[in-house]
Amino acid sequence: MTKNVKQLRIAGVGYSVPKTVITNDDLTKLYETSDEWIYTRTGIKERRVVSGNESAIDLGCDAASHALEKSGFKPEDIDCVIAAASAPPQLYPALACDIQTKLGIPNYVPSFDLTAACTGLIYALQVARGLIGSGLYKNILIVAADNNSRLVDWEDRGTSILFGDGAGALVVTEAEDGIDDILSLDIFADGAIGQYIYLNTLGKNCPLVEPCEETDNKIHMAGRDVYKFVVSTLPHYVEECIEHANMKAEDIDYLIPHQANQRIIEALQQRLGYSDEKVISNIKYYGNTSAASIPIALVEGVENCKIKLGSTAILCGFGAGMTWGAAVVRLRQGIC
Ligand code: UT7
Repeated sequence: MTKNVKQLRIAGVGYSVPKTVITNDDLTKLYETSDEWIYTRTGIKERRVVSGNESAIDLGCDAASHALEKSGFKPEDIDCVIAAASAPPQLYPALACDIQTKLGIPNYVPSFDLTAACTGLIYALQVARGLIGSGLYKNILIVAADNNSRLVDWEDRGTSILFGDGAGALVVTEAEDGIDDILSLDIFADGAIGQYIYLNTLGKNCPLVEPCEETDNKIHMAGRDVYKFVVSTLPHYVEECIEHANMKAEDIDYLIPHQANQRIIEALQQRLGYSDEKVISNIKYYGNTSAASIPIALVEGVENCKIKLGSTAILCGFGAGMTWGAAVVRLRQGIC
Protein backbone atom coordinates (compact mmCIF):
# COMPACT_ATOMS: atom_id res chain seq x y z
CA MET A 1 0.00 0.00 0.00
CA THR A 2 1.20 3.53 -0.71
CA LYS A 3 1.97 6.00 2.03
CA ASN A 4 -1.12 8.20 1.76
CA VAL A 5 -3.62 5.35 2.22
CA LYS A 6 -6.44 5.91 4.67
CA GLN A 7 -6.52 3.83 7.84
CA LEU A 8 -9.32 1.53 8.93
CA ARG A 9 -11.15 1.65 12.24
CA ILE A 10 -13.32 -1.22 13.46
CA ALA A 11 -16.36 0.70 14.68
CA GLY A 12 -18.82 -1.99 15.71
CA VAL A 13 -19.22 -5.76 15.93
CA GLY A 14 -22.34 -7.88 16.40
CA TYR A 15 -23.56 -11.46 16.17
CA SER A 16 -26.69 -13.52 16.03
CA VAL A 17 -27.44 -17.21 16.51
CA PRO A 18 -30.72 -19.10 16.15
CA LYS A 19 -32.58 -20.11 19.30
CA THR A 20 -32.91 -23.82 18.48
CA VAL A 21 -30.25 -25.98 20.16
CA ILE A 22 -29.28 -29.45 18.92
CA THR A 23 -27.14 -31.36 21.43
CA ASN A 24 -24.81 -34.27 20.73
CA ASP A 25 -27.34 -36.51 22.44
CA ASP A 26 -30.00 -35.29 20.00
CA LEU A 27 -27.76 -36.46 17.13
CA THR A 28 -27.85 -40.02 18.44
CA LYS A 29 -31.45 -40.08 17.11
CA LEU A 30 -30.06 -39.59 13.58
CA TYR A 31 -27.11 -42.00 13.50
CA GLU A 32 -24.83 -44.09 15.65
CA THR A 33 -22.66 -41.67 17.59
CA SER A 34 -22.18 -40.47 21.14
CA ASP A 35 -21.62 -37.26 23.04
CA GLU A 36 -18.29 -38.68 24.19
CA TRP A 37 -17.08 -39.39 20.60
CA ILE A 38 -18.04 -35.96 19.34
CA TYR A 39 -16.83 -34.00 22.35
CA THR A 40 -13.42 -35.65 22.59
CA ARG A 41 -12.69 -35.24 18.86
CA THR A 42 -14.13 -31.77 18.33
CA GLY A 43 -14.83 -30.01 21.64
CA ILE A 44 -18.46 -29.58 20.54
CA LYS A 45 -21.40 -30.27 22.87
CA GLU A 46 -24.18 -28.49 21.00
CA ARG A 47 -24.89 -26.24 18.04
CA ARG A 48 -27.67 -23.82 17.01
CA VAL A 49 -29.72 -24.44 13.88
CA VAL A 50 -32.29 -22.48 11.92
CA SER A 51 -35.85 -23.76 12.10
CA GLY A 52 -38.81 -23.21 9.78
CA ASN A 53 -38.26 -20.35 7.37
CA GLU A 54 -35.52 -18.74 9.42
CA SER A 55 -32.31 -18.41 7.38
CA ALA A 56 -28.86 -16.86 7.19
CA ILE A 57 -30.56 -13.72 5.86
CA ASP A 58 -32.39 -13.17 9.17
CA LEU A 59 -29.30 -13.99 11.20
CA GLY A 60 -27.17 -11.69 9.03
CA CYS A 61 -29.63 -8.80 9.42
CA ASP A 62 -29.76 -9.27 13.17
CA ALA A 63 -25.96 -9.40 13.52
CA ALA A 64 -25.62 -6.36 11.24
CA SER A 65 -28.17 -4.38 13.30
CA HIS A 66 -26.15 -5.03 16.45
CA ALA A 67 -22.89 -4.03 14.75
CA LEU A 68 -24.49 -0.85 13.38
CA GLU A 69 -25.88 0.07 16.77
CA LYS A 70 -22.50 -0.37 18.43
CA SER A 71 -20.75 1.60 15.69
CA GLY A 72 -23.01 4.60 16.17
CA PHE A 73 -23.64 4.71 12.41
CA LYS A 74 -27.09 4.76 10.88
CA PRO A 75 -28.05 2.58 7.91
CA GLU A 76 -27.88 5.68 5.65
CA ASP A 77 -24.21 6.21 6.62
CA ILE A 78 -23.16 2.88 5.07
CA ASP A 79 -21.74 3.22 1.56
CA CYS A 80 -20.84 -0.42 0.79
CA VAL A 81 -22.07 -3.84 1.96
CA ILE A 82 -19.99 -6.99 1.68
CA ALA A 83 -21.47 -10.34 2.71
CA ALA A 84 -19.28 -13.38 3.16
CA ALA A 85 -21.35 -16.54 3.37
CA SER A 86 -19.84 -19.96 2.67
CA ALA A 87 -23.12 -20.82 0.99
CA PRO A 88 -25.75 -18.07 0.94
CA PRO A 89 -29.40 -19.16 0.98
CA GLN A 90 -29.58 -18.11 -2.67
CA LEU A 91 -26.78 -17.51 -5.19
CA TYR A 92 -28.58 -14.41 -6.37
CA PRO A 93 -29.77 -11.91 -5.39
CA ALA A 94 -26.68 -11.58 -3.22
CA LEU A 95 -27.12 -11.93 0.53
CA ALA A 96 -25.62 -8.42 0.75
CA CYS A 97 -28.50 -7.04 -1.38
CA ASP A 98 -31.08 -8.61 0.95
CA ILE A 99 -29.34 -7.15 3.97
CA GLN A 100 -29.10 -3.71 2.32
CA THR A 101 -32.86 -3.62 1.73
CA LYS A 102 -33.93 -5.14 5.04
CA LEU A 103 -31.77 -2.76 7.10
CA GLY A 104 -32.78 0.36 5.20
CA ILE A 105 -29.33 1.02 3.75
CA PRO A 106 -29.85 3.34 0.76
CA ASN A 107 -30.88 1.44 -2.36
CA TYR A 108 -27.99 2.67 -4.51
CA VAL A 109 -25.22 1.42 -2.16
CA PRO A 110 -23.06 -1.28 -3.81
CA SER A 111 -23.72 -4.63 -2.14
CA PHE A 112 -22.06 -7.89 -3.09
CA ASP A 113 -21.14 -11.34 -1.80
CA LEU A 114 -17.70 -12.81 -1.59
CA THR A 115 -17.02 -16.52 -1.19
CA ALA A 116 -14.08 -17.74 0.82
CA ALA A 117 -15.93 -20.21 3.06
CA CYS A 118 -14.86 -20.06 6.70
CA THR A 119 -12.09 -17.56 5.87
CA GLY A 120 -14.75 -15.24 4.42
CA LEU A 121 -14.66 -12.68 7.19
CA ILE A 122 -10.89 -12.23 6.91
CA TYR A 123 -11.12 -12.00 3.11
CA ALA A 124 -13.91 -9.42 3.43
CA LEU A 125 -11.84 -7.43 5.89
CA GLN A 126 -8.97 -7.38 3.38
CA VAL A 127 -11.30 -6.16 0.60
CA ALA A 128 -12.79 -3.51 2.89
CA ARG A 129 -9.28 -2.44 3.88
CA GLY A 130 -8.42 -1.90 0.23
CA LEU A 131 -11.65 0.00 -0.47
CA ILE A 132 -11.30 2.25 2.56
CA GLY A 133 -7.53 2.60 2.15
CA SER A 134 -7.92 3.85 -1.42
CA GLY A 135 -10.64 6.31 -0.41
CA LEU A 136 -13.28 4.63 -2.60
CA TYR A 137 -15.68 3.95 0.28
CA LYS A 138 -15.84 5.18 3.83
CA ASN A 139 -18.23 3.14 5.97
CA ILE A 140 -18.47 -0.54 5.08
CA LEU A 141 -20.77 -3.13 6.58
CA ILE A 142 -19.30 -6.66 6.52
CA VAL A 143 -21.67 -9.53 7.26
CA ALA A 144 -20.72 -13.19 7.60
CA ALA A 145 -23.74 -15.48 7.83
CA ASP A 146 -24.33 -19.15 7.22
CA ASN A 147 -27.12 -21.69 7.64
CA ASN A 148 -24.89 -24.74 7.36
CA SER A 149 -27.57 -26.96 8.87
CA ARG A 150 -29.52 -26.72 5.60
CA LEU A 151 -26.53 -27.94 3.62
CA VAL A 152 -24.95 -30.73 5.60
CA ASP A 153 -25.90 -34.30 4.88
CA TRP A 154 -27.69 -35.31 8.09
CA GLU A 155 -26.83 -38.93 7.31
CA ASP A 156 -23.09 -38.17 7.23
CA ARG A 157 -22.00 -38.39 10.85
CA GLY A 158 -18.41 -37.41 9.98
CA THR A 159 -19.50 -33.96 8.80
CA SER A 160 -22.89 -33.01 10.25
CA ILE A 161 -21.60 -33.17 13.85
CA LEU A 162 -19.36 -30.17 13.21
CA PHE A 163 -21.53 -27.42 11.84
CA GLY A 164 -23.92 -24.89 13.32
CA ASP A 165 -25.65 -21.75 12.08
CA GLY A 166 -24.92 -18.15 12.94
CA ALA A 167 -23.92 -14.72 11.76
CA GLY A 168 -21.41 -12.06 12.65
CA ALA A 169 -21.00 -8.50 11.38
CA LEU A 170 -18.48 -5.69 11.49
CA VAL A 171 -18.83 -2.03 10.64
CA VAL A 172 -15.50 -0.67 9.48
CA THR A 173 -14.79 2.94 8.67
CA GLU A 174 -12.05 5.37 7.76
CA ALA A 175 -10.08 6.08 10.93
CA GLU A 176 -10.35 9.84 11.43
CA ASP A 177 -7.55 9.67 14.01
CA GLY A 178 -5.23 7.95 11.51
CA ILE A 179 -4.78 4.91 13.77
CA ASP A 180 -5.14 1.68 11.84
CA ASP A 181 -7.00 -1.15 13.58
CA ILE A 182 -5.53 -3.66 11.13
CA LEU A 183 -1.94 -4.11 12.22
CA SER A 184 -1.42 -6.82 9.61
CA LEU A 185 -3.62 -9.04 7.47
CA ASP A 186 -2.71 -11.89 5.12
CA ILE A 187 -5.00 -14.11 3.05
CA PHE A 188 -4.15 -17.22 1.02
CA ALA A 189 -5.68 -19.98 -1.10
CA ASP A 190 -4.69 -23.32 -2.59
CA GLY A 191 -7.22 -24.55 -5.14
CA ALA A 192 -5.24 -27.74 -5.70
CA ILE A 193 -6.75 -29.15 -2.50
CA GLY A 194 -10.24 -27.86 -3.17
CA GLN A 195 -11.62 -31.38 -2.96
CA TYR A 196 -11.06 -31.41 0.82
CA ILE A 197 -14.36 -29.53 1.36
CA TYR A 198 -16.86 -28.92 -1.40
CA LEU A 199 -20.50 -28.17 -2.02
CA ASN A 200 -21.88 -28.45 -5.55
CA THR A 201 -24.91 -26.54 -6.71
CA LEU A 202 -27.33 -28.77 -8.53
CA GLY A 203 -27.43 -28.28 -12.24
CA LYS A 204 -28.31 -30.19 -15.39
CA ASN A 205 -27.12 -29.63 -18.92
CA CYS A 206 -29.44 -28.48 -21.69
CA PRO A 207 -31.60 -31.52 -22.54
CA LEU A 208 -30.34 -31.38 -26.14
CA VAL A 209 -26.76 -32.30 -25.16
CA GLU A 210 -25.03 -35.11 -23.34
CA PRO A 211 -25.97 -34.91 -19.61
CA CYS A 212 -23.31 -34.00 -17.08
CA GLU A 213 -22.53 -36.12 -14.08
CA GLU A 214 -25.19 -35.51 -11.42
CA THR A 215 -24.16 -34.52 -7.90
CA ASP A 216 -25.95 -33.77 -4.68
CA ASN A 217 -25.92 -30.34 -3.07
CA LYS A 218 -24.58 -31.33 0.34
CA ILE A 219 -21.36 -30.40 2.10
CA HIS A 220 -18.66 -33.04 1.53
CA MET A 221 -15.61 -32.95 3.75
CA ALA A 222 -12.49 -35.09 4.04
CA GLY A 223 -12.22 -34.26 7.74
CA ARG A 224 -8.91 -35.96 8.39
CA ASP A 225 -7.22 -34.28 5.39
CA VAL A 226 -8.55 -30.89 6.47
CA TYR A 227 -7.31 -31.47 9.99
CA LYS A 228 -3.82 -32.51 8.86
CA PHE A 229 -3.54 -29.63 6.41
CA VAL A 230 -4.62 -27.03 8.92
CA VAL A 231 -2.44 -28.10 11.86
CA SER A 232 0.60 -28.39 9.60
CA THR A 233 0.02 -25.09 7.76
CA LEU A 234 -1.95 -22.48 9.69
CA PRO A 235 0.35 -21.96 12.71
CA HIS A 236 3.18 -20.87 10.41
CA TYR A 237 1.00 -18.24 8.71
CA VAL A 238 -0.32 -17.03 12.04
CA GLU A 239 3.25 -16.49 13.25
CA GLU A 240 4.13 -14.77 9.98
CA CYS A 241 1.12 -12.43 10.30
CA ILE A 242 2.29 -11.48 13.79
CA GLU A 243 5.76 -10.76 12.37
CA HIS A 244 4.18 -8.61 9.65
CA ALA A 245 2.64 -6.51 12.43
CA ASN A 246 6.18 -6.09 13.83
CA MET A 247 5.03 -7.83 16.98
CA LYS A 248 5.84 -10.93 18.95
CA ALA A 249 3.22 -13.49 19.99
CA GLU A 250 3.48 -12.35 23.60
CA ASP A 251 2.64 -8.76 22.58
CA ILE A 252 -0.84 -9.84 21.50
CA ASP A 253 -3.60 -10.11 24.08
CA TYR A 254 -5.96 -12.69 22.53
CA LEU A 255 -6.15 -15.47 19.98
CA ILE A 256 -9.61 -15.48 18.37
CA PRO A 257 -9.50 -18.41 15.94
CA HIS A 258 -12.10 -19.83 13.59
CA GLN A 259 -14.06 -22.31 15.70
CA ALA A 260 -13.70 -25.51 13.66
CA ASN A 261 -12.28 -28.05 16.06
CA GLN A 262 -11.03 -27.59 19.63
CA ARG A 263 -7.95 -29.67 18.83
CA ILE A 264 -6.99 -27.25 16.04
CA ILE A 265 -7.50 -24.32 18.42
CA GLU A 266 -5.24 -26.06 20.96
CA ALA A 267 -2.56 -26.68 18.31
CA LEU A 268 -2.51 -22.93 17.59
CA GLN A 269 -2.49 -22.11 21.29
CA GLN A 270 0.47 -24.41 21.86
CA ARG A 271 2.44 -22.95 18.95
CA LEU A 272 1.92 -19.40 20.23
CA GLY A 273 2.64 -20.44 23.83
CA TYR A 274 -0.58 -18.83 25.08
CA SER A 275 -2.28 -19.50 28.41
CA ASP A 276 -5.98 -20.49 28.37
CA GLU A 277 -6.94 -16.92 29.35
CA LYS A 278 -5.67 -15.62 26.01
CA VAL A 279 -7.52 -18.12 23.84
CA ILE A 280 -11.16 -17.56 22.90
CA SER A 281 -13.14 -20.72 22.29
CA ASN A 282 -16.91 -21.15 22.27
CA ILE A 283 -17.07 -24.10 19.88
CA LYS A 284 -18.59 -26.15 22.72
CA TYR A 285 -21.88 -24.28 22.35
CA TYR A 286 -22.04 -23.32 18.68
CA GLY A 287 -20.00 -25.81 16.66
CA ASN A 288 -18.49 -24.47 13.46
CA THR A 289 -20.52 -21.49 12.22
CA SER A 290 -18.21 -20.92 9.23
CA ALA A 291 -17.27 -17.31 8.52
CA ALA A 292 -19.42 -16.14 11.44
CA SER A 293 -17.40 -17.97 14.08
CA ILE A 294 -14.72 -15.31 14.64
CA PRO A 295 -17.08 -12.36 15.30
CA ILE A 296 -19.37 -14.57 17.42
CA ALA A 297 -16.34 -15.60 19.52
CA LEU A 298 -15.19 -11.98 19.76
CA VAL A 299 -18.48 -10.48 20.93
CA GLU A 300 -19.29 -13.38 23.25
CA GLY A 301 -15.77 -13.16 24.66
CA VAL A 302 -16.46 -9.53 25.59
CA GLU A 303 -19.93 -10.36 26.98
CA ASN A 304 -18.41 -13.12 29.14
CA CYS A 305 -15.67 -10.74 30.32
CA LYS A 306 -12.98 -12.99 28.86
CA ILE A 307 -11.92 -10.24 26.44
CA LYS A 308 -11.16 -6.76 27.71
CA LEU A 309 -11.39 -4.12 25.02
CA GLY A 310 -8.57 -1.67 24.47
CA SER A 311 -6.49 -4.69 23.46
CA THR A 312 -5.10 -6.52 20.43
CA ALA A 313 -6.05 -9.90 18.99
CA ILE A 314 -4.89 -12.28 16.32
CA LEU A 315 -7.81 -13.57 14.26
CA CYS A 316 -7.24 -16.57 12.03
CA GLY A 317 -9.36 -18.82 9.88
CA PHE A 318 -9.41 -21.49 7.21
CA GLY A 319 -11.99 -23.19 5.08
CA ALA A 320 -13.04 -24.57 1.74
CA GLY A 321 -10.92 -23.52 -1.19
CA MET A 322 -8.77 -24.26 0.67
CA THR A 323 -8.51 -20.71 1.89
CA TRP A 324 -6.85 -19.40 5.01
CA GLY A 325 -5.81 -16.12 6.54
CA ALA A 326 -4.97 -14.16 9.65
CA ALA A 327 -5.19 -10.62 10.93
CA VAL A 328 -3.72 -8.79 13.90
CA VAL A 329 -6.33 -6.26 14.95
CA ARG A 330 -6.83 -3.55 17.52
CA LEU A 331 -10.03 -3.95 19.57
CA ARG A 332 -11.05 -0.47 20.67
CA GLN A 333 -13.34 0.30 23.59
CA GLY A 334 -17.03 0.37 22.69
CA ILE A 335 -16.96 -1.84 19.58
CA CYS A 336 -19.26 -4.39 21.19
O1 UT7 B 1 -14.47 -25.15 8.54
C1 UT7 B 1 -14.46 -26.53 8.18
C2 UT7 B 1 -13.25 -27.09 8.65
N1 UT7 B 1 -13.31 -28.50 8.91
C3 UT7 B 1 -12.57 -29.04 9.89
O2 UT7 B 1 -11.90 -28.33 10.61
C4 UT7 B 1 -12.56 -30.54 10.02
C5 UT7 B 1 -11.33 -31.02 10.69
N2 UT7 B 1 -11.42 -32.45 10.99
C6 UT7 B 1 -12.05 -32.91 12.07
O3 UT7 B 1 -12.53 -32.16 12.90
C7 UT7 B 1 -12.08 -34.42 12.25
O4 UT7 B 1 -11.47 -35.03 11.13
C8 UT7 B 1 -13.51 -34.99 12.43
C9 UT7 B 1 -14.00 -34.63 13.81
C10 UT7 B 1 -14.45 -34.45 11.37
C11 UT7 B 1 -13.47 -36.51 12.35
O5 UT7 B 1 -12.56 -37.04 13.30
P1 UT7 B 1 -11.46 -38.14 12.87
O6 UT7 B 1 -10.74 -38.50 14.11
O7 UT7 B 1 -10.67 -37.57 11.74
O8 UT7 B 1 -12.37 -39.34 12.43
P2 UT7 B 1 -12.43 -40.13 11.03
O9 UT7 B 1 -13.26 -39.38 10.06
O10 UT7 B 1 -11.06 -40.55 10.62
O11 UT7 B 1 -13.22 -41.42 11.48
C12 UT7 B 1 -12.69 -42.34 12.45
C13 UT7 B 1 -13.74 -43.37 12.78
C14 UT7 B 1 -14.37 -44.00 11.53
O12 UT7 B 1 -14.62 -45.37 11.84
P3 UT7 B 1 -13.70 -46.52 11.25
O13 UT7 B 1 -13.79 -46.38 9.75
O14 UT7 B 1 -12.31 -46.23 11.78
O15 UT7 B 1 -14.34 -47.75 11.79
C15 UT7 B 1 -15.66 -43.27 11.37
O16 UT7 B 1 -16.64 -44.05 10.71
O17 UT7 B 1 -14.83 -42.77 13.48
C16 UT7 B 1 -16.06 -43.03 12.79
N3 UT7 B 1 -16.92 -41.88 12.94
C17 UT7 B 1 -17.78 -41.71 13.96
N4 UT7 B 1 -18.07 -42.48 15.01
C18 UT7 B 1 -18.98 -42.01 15.90
C19 UT7 B 1 -17.00 -40.77 12.13
N5 UT7 B 1 -17.89 -39.91 12.62
C20 UT7 B 1 -18.39 -40.46 13.74
C21 UT7 B 1 -19.34 -40.03 14.70
N6 UT7 B 1 -19.60 -40.83 15.75
N7 UT7 B 1 -19.99 -38.85 14.59
